[in-house]
Amino acid sequence: MKISVYYTPESTPDHVIPECAVVIDVLRATTTITTALNNGAKSVKAFSDIDLLLAESNQLPVESRLRLGERGGKKVDSCDLGNSPLDCSREVVTGKQLFISTTNGTRALQRVESAQTVIAGAIINYGAVVKYLKEYKPTTVWLLGSGWEGGYSLEDTVCAGAIASELVDFSNINDISNDEVVSAIALYCQWEDNLFDLFRLSSHGQRLLKLNLEEDLKYCSQKNLISTLPIQTDKGIFKINNK
Ligand code: MLT
Repeated sequence: MKISVYYTPESTPDHVIPECAVVIDVLRATTTITTALNNGAKSVKAFSDIDLLLAESNQLPVESRLRLGERGGKKVDSCDLGNSPLDCSREVVTGKQLFISTTNGTRALQRVESAQTVIAGAIINYGAVVKYLKEYKPTTVWLLGSGWEGGYSLEDTVCAGAIASELVDFSNINDISNDEVVSAIALYCQWEDNLFDLFRLSSHGQRLLKLNLEEDLKYCSQKNLISTLPIQTDKGIFKINNK
């Protein structure tokens, strides 16, 4: 298994796609997608464009859909919910088809949507990601952070490091496809017991704290809270992996 870490969708190489892409947006899109599916949502469809989301979701009856929209950490007015995983309780999402658009996470999902396998990873479910990768052993794996508007993010990189640390054997350099892999593992080794503190330091963590979303940060920093693995079943559409 050849593993690469990319900090942002913009930093991935052109015209190349891995066999398996793990998209990571810890704060908060992939945490929210994982939580919603764990709590009984039928599916989650990701859109980078909010108008496309509104147009497609309009084709469903209001009672069977939920629209989640976020820009700059805040809820988009035309949507039912923002991007807080804490809003995706069983009572709210069970049996619903969700449609989501966020500032960075859904763009990262779109970048790799043509890969054979696309999964959504976060701190709350990284153990399920590792289990899947160990079982299916794809030949090429990208751990793709969403970052913030083209820039690096601590929270996505530390999650990539958590996953890579369980897959990479430093005595087998063939596993490691770029320097970012070793760097992400080093970040994880330094912060693995203090992820909430790391998220408080991160620029997007600070943005969310200013919006009074400290509880979101706490929730997103809990390691392996659930074992649900969202997997792409059709372009942009995620369901629970049943394989
Ligand atoms: C994003 O896509 O950048 C995020 O998920 C932002 C957020 O809602 O915290």
